[in-house]
Amino acid sequence: MEFLGFLVLLSFLFSSSSAKFDEQFQPSWAFDHVVRENDTLKLKLDSYSGAGFASKGKYLYGKTTAEMKLVPGDSAGTVTAFYMSSDGEAHNEFDFEFLGNTSGEPYLVQTNVYVNGVGNREQRMDLWFDPTVEFHEYSILWNPKQVMFMVDGTPIRVYENREGEGLVFPKDQPMGVYSSVWNADDWATQGGRVKTDWSHEPFVTTYRDVRVEGCEVVEGKEVEGEVKRCGESGEGKEGRYWWKEPVMEELTVHQSHQLVWVRARHLIYDYCFDSARFPVAPPECRR
Ligand SMILES: *[C@@H]1O[C@H](CO)[C@@H](O)[C@H](O)[C@H]1NC(C)=O
Ligand SMILES: *[C@@H]1O[C@H](CO)[C@@H](O)[C@H](O)[C@H]1NC(C)=O
Repeated sequence: MEFLGFLVLLSFLFSSSSAKFDEQFQPSWAFDHVVRENDTLKLKLDSYSGAGFASKGKYLYGKTTAEMKLVPGDSAGTVTAFYMSSDGEAHNEFDFEFLGNTSGEPYLVQTNVYVNGVGNREQRMDLWFDPTVEFHEYSILWNPKQVMFMVDGTPIRVYENREGEGLVFPKDQPMGVYSSVWNADDWATQGGRVKTDWSHEPFVTTYRDVRVEGCEVVEGKEVEGEVKRCGESGEGKEGRYWWKEPVMEELTVHQSHQLVWVRARHLIYDYCFDSARFPVAPPECRR
């Protein structure tokens, strides 16, 4: 009986989200601004520092999800970022950046895609809920056919592989998962006009669950071999690579409807339509 109780306790401990967090992630800077509270993790920004965490491993394709409650009240000037990134100059990066606002004014969600070190692919949306009240789920899915940004399972942006048309698609570079809260009051809120009001510090974003499922690159192994292992087969030693299965490679009909709805109702800015910035539309924007 006692042994059974011990097992139950053990499985409880290891299924709790903080144990899962520690398995895959670690604080990456300003450790004293990364705070555990019961089953949640908080990143705090004050006038001394922001804070961040990072995945221990690097992945080649996969899906990462964070359940987050963004800085409540006055969050103007602050940015909470959740992103995947590879290392080096010609890096790839898929970003969620949550741009704070004054109390009662809406957050904006900016997404961006860097390919071989070049970004400038910003899109901005507002949300169909207040992201500071409850936890919501933000995910990035990456496979050989697309990068999909999702909010509570609804796609808000898709960056497709169009190598067939000569465009470069981010692949072959293992990516880590990162999140951070920092001060960006030179640009984040209303174009930088509203500054961070430090009398309202600390600014706190709360995480309930952060996870990544993907093909983890084995440290010390040749990247080429890992690219092959993670990219070519549908199945790995670890089991099914479900994030690469056909159903994940393109939007379902339902998802395309959702994306159309979100863009129609919530899109605020899309670099593809910014002709002042790009007199000639970037190639991936052409249909
Ligand atoms: C954390 O758990 C304790 C004990 O169950 C509880 O008293 C406290 O209110 C919790 N804190 C938060 C922020 O939920
Ligand atoms: C902040 O609120 C203003 C006024 O509603 C809005 O124009 C702006 O897009 C909001 N978001 C940011 C990040 O500035």
